[in-house]
Amino acid sequence: MIVFDQVTKRYPDSTVDVVNQLSLTIPDGEICILVGPSGCGKTTTMKMINKLIPPSSGSILIDGQDIGSIDTIQLRLNIGYIIQDIGLFPHMTVAENIATVPVELGWKKDRISARVDELLDLVELEPKIYRHKKPRELSGGQRQRVGVARALAADPKIMLMDEPFGALDPITRAKLQDEFLNIQAKIKKTIVFVTHDIDEALKMGDRIAVLKAGRVVQYGTPMEILARPADPFVSDLIGGRNSLKMMNLLTCGDVMETVGLATDFAAKAAVSIQATAQDALAEMFRTGQSSVLVLDDQKNIQGLIRLESLLESVSDYGRSN
Ligand SMILES: Nc1ncnc2c1ncn2[C@@H]1O[C@H](COP(=O)(O)OP(=O)(O)OP(=O)(O)O)[C@@H](O)[C@H]1O
Ligand SMILES: [Mg+2]
Repeated sequence: MIVFDQVTKRYPDSTVDVVNQLSLTIPDGEICILVGPSGCGKTTTMKMINKLIPPSSGSILIDGQDIGSIDTIQLRLNIGYIIQDIGLFPHMTVAENIATVPVELGWKKDRISARVDELLDLVELEPKIYRHKKPRELSGGQRQRVGVARALAADPKIMLMDEPFGALDPITRAKLQDEFLNIQAKIKKTIVFVTHDIDEALKMGDRIAVLKAGRVVQYGTPMEILARPADPFVSDLIGGRNSLKMMNLLTCGDVMETVGLATDFAAKAAVSIQATAQDALAEMFRTGQSSVLVLDDQKNIQGLIRLESLLESVSDYGRSN
């Protein structure tokens, strides 16, 4: 768990606090997103966790221990860090880049080599092909993958990711986001993830901290932020269509009806139980039906979603979450 307790960062030459009395608790195993406009203090907040920037006042605790009392090198070796533009070492191969921290930790050659291959597999880069390449021989998306692998190398408990998918085209970006969520489901790191893109925040975050001028204006789950934006600034950031965005966070399994199915078997449209509620809505529009069947992987009927009750259940979620 990472705790920010009344943390402020003030530069001598500036009149405003870049980070202002920030308090935040980031639970273990979750992705916590820092989102907000350029200059609101996201990178500064993140860099205070691995002591790249010292706070002016307040304290940061990791598992109850004030980071001020933890040796800086030890602290950084236990935190995976992906900087805003990835920053692979250009003269090193992919394998050498990934091995940076394990080498620092004095791991044996065989162990490092096995770990590099394991991580390349994890980020879906064939080790035989990619170990020996240099960063300049990789696409942007491949470099991002190597950045993720390098940050994970020594199996740190905490990962700091500063706009890790920022400079990618939308398709590659969505793919890497999905891959990363799959990886996180296996490794369950405590992740602080910076983005200025609210849709990325809603997709990737277990919790989202909305920052404005160095302050947290709202901290909550994506559902809470969508259902009850704290103020007009958060509403503007979300940009409307909150119900549709909420449907993106719910699966068909979450919103389907399972009773009284027999009478509705005539429904002509169907969706997978893992699909989003938004997919169900799209399928209704596509087929012109007012209900869709929900199927499991074996194509067995598990439930039914009716347009009317879908809209109702989303607004219920808004009220109760
Ligand atoms: N060394 C410094 N001295 C004075 N002010 C600084 C210094 N470093 C950063 N700042 C200011 O602190 C503020 C927050 O910067 P920070 O890098 O945390 O923003 P950010 O939210 O990460 O923005 P972006 O989305 O553009 O990356 C900015 O207004 C910036 O100008
Ligand atoms: Mg930044």
